[in-house]
Formats: sequence, structure tokens, C-alpha cells
Amino acid sequence: MKFFVDTADVAAIRELAALGMVDGVTTNPSLIAKSGRDIKEVTAEICEIVDGPVSAETVALDAEGMIAEGRELAKIADNIAIKVPLTWEGLKACRALTGEGYMVNVTLCFSANQAILAAKAGATFVSPFIGRLDDINLEGMDLIADIRKIYDNYDFSTQILAASVRQPNHVSQAALIGADIVTAPPEVIKKMAQHPLTDKGLAAFLADWEKTGQKIL
Ligand code: E4P
Repeated sequence: MKFFVDTADVAAIRELAALGMVDGVTTNPSLIAKSGRDIKEVTAEICEIVDGPVSAETVALDAEGMIAEGRELAKIADNIAIKVPLTWEGLKACRALTGEGYMVNVTLCFSANQAILAAKAGATFVSPFIGRLDDINLEGMDLIADIRKIYDNYDFSTQILAASVRQPNHVSQAALIGADIVTAPPEVIKKMAQHPLTDKGLAAFLADWEKTGQKIL
């Protein structure tokens, strides 16, 4: 499973990349706004840190506008994946941009039918949003499972990029289902390392070690 980081926070990306935990990065207009930085400048900096795909999202609503913005964003670096929304116009833009050789991430996917269309339009990645489905009392993880089954039935090559990951369990569940990639915020990735029994075990080991009076260094 590949691991993408869902952020435009360069310091956080740098920290995780140093641990070998960043196979790619996803950003969106909200994350760029949160960074307070210019989209081209911050994305270029991210692309210098990360070799894998870095998603940069278009904001036009029509295919022509998305294609023009996508071409502009792709000038930032060779590893840019152009992100377009899963609308009819977005699918047109996806087809055109993949035809030009760009990686395209079709985002805001909330149904299996949308995911089928993304694959047929030649998307490199499809981003089903788990957390936002959970938010409205649906099972986001069921969507990942449905898409996995459908893509496997027909050998679709579009990669499933599980997105809107809000908690560590989302990562392991998506991995069990066989999502190709999970994109998670840095806080969620860090939380994956936590376990109360690890903390408890460590405290017990250190208390016993104290009794020995020994030192390693
Ligand atoms: C995916 O590419 C999006 O950037 C992201 O995962 C959205 O997550 P959210 O629903 O927590 O905002």
C-alpha cells in the first residue's frame, strides 16, 4: 500500500518524508488556503521534497477551464497529478489531460458509479472520500470495498486513493480492503504509532530497568 500525506504543510511533509513515509502528497483548495501560501510556490516546494505524485487541484467548473488550469499546474514539476472534481465536466477534463500524458486524480468521489466513470475516463487515481460519507451516517469504507470489487472485476487500472481519512482505523481498514493508496493528514499518520499497551509496557520496562541500577551508555 502506498502512503500519501494529505496536507500543504511543508514542515510536516518534510518530517514524514525523512521517515520514508511519503509516497506522494494530496492537496486541495482548502488545504492551500489553510497553508496561507501561494499555490504554485508551496506546491513547487512540496515537489522538491517528494518524488511521488503531488496532487494539485483545479478550481474551474468547466472542462476547458480545468484543462487550462491543469496544464498550468503541471508546469510546476514533473510529478504533479492534476486533480479534477468528479463531475461530468471533470470527466471530460480527465480524459483530455490523461490523453496529453498527465497524471489525473479525480476527486470528490462518493459513489461506485462515479468511480466507474472515473476509470472509464482514464483516471490515474480516483479519490473516494471516507470521512465525509461517515459524516452523513453512511459507511465510507463500504464505498472503498465496492470500488475495489468493481475495479478487480474488470481489471481497471485506475488506482484507488482512499481519501478523507480522519482516524487511524480508516487507514488499516482501507489497507485490508486493498485500496492502492491511502492519503491521510500528518496527525492521523502520527496517531497510528500510538497504543496504550505500548505506553504501559514501556513504563513497566523502564521501572524494572531502574531497579537494576545499570546504564547502557
Ligand atoms: C483528498 O484528496 C482530500 O484532500 C481530503 O482527503 C479531504 O479530506 P476531508 O474530508 O477531511 O477534508
